[in-house]
Amino acid sequence: MKLSAFQPLAFLVVGVLICGAVLRAQTVAPQTTNFAPLDYFNDKCARCHGNYGSFYGQNFGKGKTDDQIAQVVKDMCEGPAQAPIAPHDLEVLVAWHRALRDAKPFVASVHFDNSVLSGEATPGATVSLETTTGEQAAVPLNGHKWSAGLPEGVQIAHVRVQSEGQTTELDPRTASYAPK
Ligand code: HEC
Repeated sequence: MKLSAFQPLAFLVVGVLICGAVLRAQTVAPQTTNFAPLDYFNDKCARCHGNYGSFYGQNFGKGKTDDQIAQVVKDMCEGPAQAPIAPHDLEVLVAWHRALRDAKPFVASVHFDNSVLSGEATPGATVSLETTTGEQAAVPLNGHKWSAGLPEGVQIAHVRVQSEGQTTELDPRTASYAPK
C-alpha cells in the first residue's frame, strides 16, 4: 500500500492532537488583563480624584448608567489625564468604576509569569484562592496588589474577594476581572 494514501489521515490525527494540546493549555493558564487598572488610576487620575478615587465621595456614580460612566472615564483618560488607553484596558478601568458605584469589591488577574499569578483588588478586601481540587488559601493583599505562586498543574477555580459584607468571585479560567 502506498504511504501517500495515509497522509491526509495522518495530518488529521496530528491536527487533532495539536488542537487538543492547545485547548488543554488554554484551560490551565489563567486569563489575565495585562493591564493594572488601580496602578493606572493612582498614577494618572489620583492627583485630582485621590488614591482609589477617595475624593469621589460616597455617592459616586449613583444614578449614572454604565454607558455614562464609561463615557466620562474615557473622556478623562483622553482629556485631563492625558493618558489614553486601549479599548480593552478602558473596559477594565470602567469595570472598577462600576464596582465602586455598586459598592462591590473588585478583582483583576493581571499577569501570569513564571508560575506566579498576580493581580489587583479593592484595598482592604480579604482575598482567597480556591483550586479546582477544592484547596483554599488566603492571599495577602498589599495595598491593592496580590500574588500567588501556582505549583505545576494547579488550576485556580476562584479568586474570592470579600469586603464590607460583599463578595466577588473571579473564575480566571473564563475571565480576567470581576464583576464584569
Ligand atoms: C486635572 C484633574 C483631573 C484628572 C487628572 C482627572 N480628572 Fe476626572 N474629573 C475632574 C473634574 C474637574 C471632574 C468633574 C467635572 C467633570 O465631570 O468634567 C471629574 C469627573 C470625573 C468623573 C465623574 C465623577 C462623578 O462624581 O461622577 C469620573 C468617573 C472621573 N473624573 C474619572 C477620572 C479618571 C478615570 C481619570 C484618570 C484617567 C481622571 N478622572 C483624571 C478632574 C480630573
